[in-house]
Amino acid sequence: MKELDFKKQFSGIIEDVIDYLETGFTDRLSKQYSGITLSKKDQITLIDNDVRRCTKCHLHLKRLNAVPGKGNLEGGIIFIGEGPGEMEDIKGEPFVGKAGQFLSGMLAAIQLKRDEVYITNVVKCRPPGNRTPLPEEINTCFPYLERQIALINPSIICCLGGVAVRTLLGSDTGISKLRGKIHHYKDIPLILTYHPAAVLRFPDRYKRDTWNDLKMLRDFYRDLKK
Ligand code: URA
Repeated sequence: MKELDFKKQFSGIIEDVIDYLETGFTDRLSKQYSGITLSKKDQITLIDNDVRRCTKCHLHLKRLNAVPGKGNLEGGIIFIGEGPGEMEDIKGEPFVGKAGQFLSGMLAAIQLKRDEVYITNVVKCRPPGNRTPLPEEINTCFPYLERQIALINPSIICCLGGVAVRTLLGSDTGISKLRGKIHHYKDIPLILTYHPAAVLRFPDRYKRDTWNDLKMLRDFYRDLKK
């Protein structure tokens, strides 16, 4: 076969194979082979890969690992934090530092295990020094969260802290005013509470309300399963 024919015949396929070997299926492949139905697990892998390779904002420059999210795709609950901290950046997993341990305790208190829920963040790369993510970082990263929510299609979203609340509800109203009732993000019920790091830091101020919010979440979730 002449080289030209060979290239014509296999054009695209070679790139796809290289793409697959390097990254697993990517967005490009998933669109091209749109007739193929991918499992939820494969689809979350696509999102994870896109997040891990993302260079859309400058946060990628200093990250050790991007942190897409982790957990149960069928559990019906997503917890959304702010962004990875130091430990999450090192391990590439959400909520694995002190705040994460506290979150595990919060979940256990309402009879939930971490592997029953999906946990992610608004921004997927660590803001330097754990500063609050900037609006442009949030806007750039938000499509990944939108894809995660659309794929998982949870029965309930739980926002942890102001960044998640502002991003999903588009409201600057403080948590103290918004908490205690069910809100909605695109028709999905949404409960919000304080960020575990804030509760750890100021237990006297936030512990009681957070516990009440968690009980509300527990009751909502129980009713769903009836
Ligand atoms: N704080 C967050 O908001 N997310 C994490 O993953 C860890 C700490």
